[in-house]
Amino acid sequence: MTREIVIAPSILAADFARLGEEVAAIDAAGADWIHCDVMDGHFVPNISFGADVIKAIRPLTKKIFDVHLMIAPVDHYLEGFAKAGADVITVHAEAGAHLDRSLQAIRALGKKAGVSLCPSTPESAIEYVLDRLDLILVMTVNPGFGGQSFLGSQLEKIRRIGTMIGARPIRLEVDGGITRDNAAAVVAAGADTLVAGSAVFRGKSAAEYAANIAAIRVAAETGRVQKLQHSSAPPQRAGESALIR
Ligand code: DX5
Ligand code: ZN
Repeated sequence: MTREIVIAPSILAADFARLGEEVAAIDAAGADWIHCDVMDGHFVPNISFGADVIKAIRPLTKKIFDVHLMIAPVDHYLEGFAKAGADVITVHAEAGAHLDRSLQAIRALGKKAGVSLCPSTPESAIEYVLDRLDLILVMTVNPGFGGQSFLGSQLEKIRRIGTMIGARPIRLEVDGGITRDNAAAVVAAGADTLVAGSAVFRGKSAAEYAANIAAIRVAAETGRVQKLQHSSAPPQRAGESALIR
């Protein structure tokens, strides 16, 4: 597979006192998407920010806003995040009983639909909603906090989900503890979209953010080459043009 790698810095690791400047800095530093972690203190044991904050930073960049909702219940809030300027809205498979309905609601709002799986949730949870998805997010830490260590147990799940996706135009995203040291492994396993918080916002200057993003991208490209060498699949896949970019 030769999907373009997407690097999505998580603003959870930004300096919230200077959030607008931080968004502008990662935009200039080469971020492909902006990952926004919304936490409710109920589905996850932490509270971050909501739709009003996303709306406030939306005019600062043209990059895709990748909104990861760690909230339950979620359906009632989808329209608010759509109006705030989200491009991709990702809900957790564990957040409610009616995942299929939530995904339909996201697409009905004209947005790309994503689903996220906590580390203990098997890939079978999404087997029957694949055709409603534009993105699958494999959590490589237990959601709730930045700065945690990557869970190697998720590599096998990434591989299995990559196989499930097949030729569908669905991005496979990983989130949690992603660094320049494990980026190659997650991409070799099948990931094409990498969220990174602490590993991007390490350092203080825009120049350091750029170096951090570049290092993750270089490592990810190494993983892409490894995957290509071990794959018999044709280099261009059906549906590639429908992938979120
Ligand atoms: C965790 C969030 C992640 C987190 C990533 O609940 O979904 O996006 O901010 O941060 P790092 O890269 O520091 O693990
Ligand atoms: Zn996230």
